[in-house]
Amino acid sequence: MPSNVSEGGDGGEDKKKKSDEAKLRGRSGNNWLILFATVAIALGSFLLTNKRGNTLPKTYAICSKDSDKVYVVDDRNLQTQCVVVDSVLIADTGSLGSIREKWGDIQIRYLPEGAVVLPGLSDSHGHVLEYGAAQQLPLEGAKSPQDVVARVREYILATPEILEDKSQVIFGGGWDHTAWSSTGWPTAADLDADSVVRGRPVILQSKDCHALWVSSKAIKDSLPLPETIEGGVIVRDESGDPTGLFLDNAQDLLKQPELTEAELLRRFNVAVRDAHRYGLTSVHDAGLDPMSLAFFKRQAKKGTLPIRIYGMSYFDPHAPYWGNVTRPLIATGNGRLTTRSVKIFADGALRTGGSALHEVYHDNPKTRGFMRLEPEILFDVIPKFVKDGWQVNVHAIGDRANGIVLDAFEASLVGADVGALRPRLEHAQMMTKEDMTRLGKLGVIASVQPTHAISDMWYAEDRLGPERVKSLYAFRSIVDSGARITLGSDFPVETMDPLSGFYAAVTRKSPDGKSPHGPGGWFPEQKLTRREALRGMTIDPAYASFTESILGSLEIGKRADFTVLSQDIMTVPEDQILSTRVIATVIDGKPVFGDI
Ligand SMILES: *[C@@H]1O[C@H](CO)[C@@H](O)[C@H](O)[C@H]1NC(C)=O
Ligand SMILES: [Zn+2]
Repeated sequence: MPSNVSEGGDGGEDKKKKSDEAKLRGRSGNNWLILFATVAIALGSFLLTNKRGNTLPKTYAICSKDSDKVYVVDDRNLQTQCVVVDSVLIADTGSLGSIREKWGDIQIRYLPEGAVVLPGLSDSHGHVLEYGAAQQLPLEGAKSPQDVVARVREYILATPEILEDKSQVIFGGGWDHTAWSSTGWPTAADLDADSVVRGRPVILQSKDCHALWVSSKAIKDSLPLPETIEGGVIVRDESGDPTGLFLDNAQDLLKQPELTEAELLRRFNVAVRDAHRYGLTSVHDAGLDPMSLAFFKRQAKKGTLPIRIYGMSYFDPHAPYWGNVTRPLIATGNGRLTTRSVKIFADGALRTGGSALHEVYHDNPKTRGFMRLEPEILFDVIPKFVKDGWQVNVHAIGDRANGIVLDAFEASLVGADVGALRPRLEHAQMMTKEDMTRLGKLGVIASVQPTHAISDMWYAEDRLGPERVKSLYAFRSIVDSGARITLGSDFPVETMDPLSGFYAAVTRKSPDGKSPHGPGGWFPEQKLTRREALRGMTIDPAYASFTESILGSLEIGKRADFTVLSQDIMTVPEDQILSTRVIATVIDGKPVFGDI
């Protein structure tokens, strides 16, 4: 792994100091002034480096004063008192006594009362740039289509460059029609009804990212549209005109402007800032389009990626196979960007009725959802990607989609070493008992999102009926079938906060302690243990990204990525988990958020 880590602007600071001194000398020759200036500059750069946390020595220890509050997350689930960092690596763990003895006068930072050190938290499924975009005009919590339109209106009025230029495309995201009392989809007419919004191109992404609700200007700019599209739906009225709602593959039909580098960077910085605040040191980005992939590569090349990104590149079933022309990248840039996996979409989402089920939807007997590609394509390209060295991660929600993908995995894994390939089912949301058993036998990883479970638990039974709903988010059954899991949030679909995922996995309740099955949680027999949930956010994502030898635990020789929390999430009462604060997020031995 390259270690040419750039040290921020410290070198530049030195140079600036020298030239300032030279200038002062040349101008006045006054020694007092030089002395004063030098002291001031030295003081300034001291404060600056102090703020950046650079006063940490190269080698330091973090210890709890009197109990074992360092969770190593090794095979034995060791808890100990101290962890020693040497530069970018974990150099040791052990009791305070043993560390003092071995490391002499090493600088020790003591944890605040009750705080814990965990391996750096990782999100196995999120969307980095989409998160940054969604933060611009967030539509979460809107109570009706009119509420959404009102937010769009306010956003336009508050953003002069958009207010003044009617051609600017307005993006928003996070609306959720399942939370509205109105039935049916929102329409372009809803947007056009507002005098400020009318006539502007507006593109609003649904909470699950499987639907776009757009204005008539956005439709007009995208004409001509095909009659139908495979793996997607253009919702139309009686006379056949698009109503303004585009599902799954139909979303690609909308013309969107090229994003500038500045806009990409803005989105990226927003996402990274929040990830650091939430204690994340690593994110698996579950879908890079060519533009995002190129952006991440440019960032990595500069050697300054502020977080670890494990990227999955989209496979477009209508584009030529690319697995043999693009090469996987491993730990490129400053060691923080890896793109060695491909993301394939099998079906849509449960919320928008696009997930492919074996039987019809309970609340819509006209459909059993749809696949977003012909199953033959899976059987064709999965073996190719595998042969060309790519990890294959397939989005599958419905039980039919999961079954078909497992068929395809099974066919391509014959005689293969599954440990070398580590195929993943992204979501693995609803599976038959037989398929769970198959998942375990094949060694396919289930990449699951506990916060989806507590979001969907309120309407899932309507969609699926009382029997089939039991096979949805059945995390305990998946683990008991011998399958590996790894946890994620699917941000911006859900909050990025990994503690929300931890809480959802171990309680199966909403943040206010409720569930459709009462205060004991929704299908409480499917809860994960806290230990499983912690592993699911640390060592399991490391395994799922081929990095378990360098990340995911605080074992000697691994990268010094860790997260310091204000209290022990492994022992606090359930209802206090969500009041835990992140004290510090540390990557390669250096705090990127907070202080130690
Ligand atoms: C890549 O694979 C495709 C599809 O199998 C094939 O048509 C093409 O010739 C291959 N290209 C290279 C450079 O190997
Ligand atoms: Zn996703």
